Amino acid sequence: MSLEGDFAGQTALVTGAARGLGRGIARAFLEAGANLVVCDINDAVEATAAELGSETGGEVLALRADVSSAADAARVIDATKERFGSLDHLVNNAGIARVARFVDTPDEDWDRTIAVNLTGVFNFMRAALPTMIAQRRGSVVNIASQAGKRGGELAAPYCASKAGVISLTQSAALEVAPDVRVNCVCPGFINTELQEDEYDAVSAITGEDREQIKAGWMAAMPLGRFQEVEDVAKVVLFLASDAAGQTTGEALNVSGGMVMD
Ligand code: NAI
Repeated sequence: MSLEGDFAGQTALVTGAARGLGRGIARAFLEAGANLVVCDINDAVEATAAELGSETGGEVLALRADVSSAADAARVIDATKERFGSLDHLVNNAGIARVARFVDTPDEDWDRTIAVNLTGVFNFMRAALPTMIAQRRGSVVNIASQAGKRGGELAAPYCASKAGVISLTQSAALEVAPDVRVNCVCPGFINTELQEDEYDAVSAITGEDREQIKAGWMAAMPLGRFQEVEDVAKVVLFLASDAAGQTTGEALNVSGGMVMD
């Protein structure tokens, strides 16, 4: 099934889209015909937007924003409606990962991880949902993680934040049905800069080398490889599309079989 063109005339907003998974999701929406808004805390979002626009011929608005700020969220939603007249799809992708043993976790790691990964999702949903409810159409896809479905070593704040994203998804889905759907995806491991940084951080604590760590994570993948950005982006577009019109409150694994519940 090709989704190309399915989103023509619709507006999608992707947070944390300067690089990595967010960039891939943004590109997939553009290829499917959507108008696009990308926001990120990193200035590189401007260059990414220009590249995506010239690669796909689509309309892209780039905005600097920190998702942990409610004021930034409101500003981004207003700018989106001003530029494109509607907001049909929100993808809460921005996220960070800090690595530490539970008992050594600094306050700042806990506070910032929850602020970005969990409060950030809350801020953008709270700012965007009134527009979707008023339009009587819309969809939200939150990027959670397999780490939200079970605890993990050296990543307590990250796992807690992603479990919170799954919970926020379910609560919002109940309140905004039947016109608006809210889902999340739970990727396993994707070779992005976030994951590259994690190998180094884990290595610094456990003393294992990067290849050992990688091999250990790979061994947990029944389908035999890490996920590509495109593997996850396709599932995000599926959840946002009419093909998933009877799916809401879902936390869909894209983890190569690593997690099955
Ligand atoms: P990445 O680090 O490559 O990209 C994350 C983007 O979010 C960056 O452009 C960064 O500048 C932006 N960002 C960070 N803090 C922000 C803030 N406060 N406000 C706005 N933007 C902010 O990471 P990656 O791998 O692309 O991750 C994307 C999402 O996927 C995250 O939510 C992550 O937790 C999730 N995920 C990643 C997995 C992986 O293995 N890479 C696995 C499962 C989930």
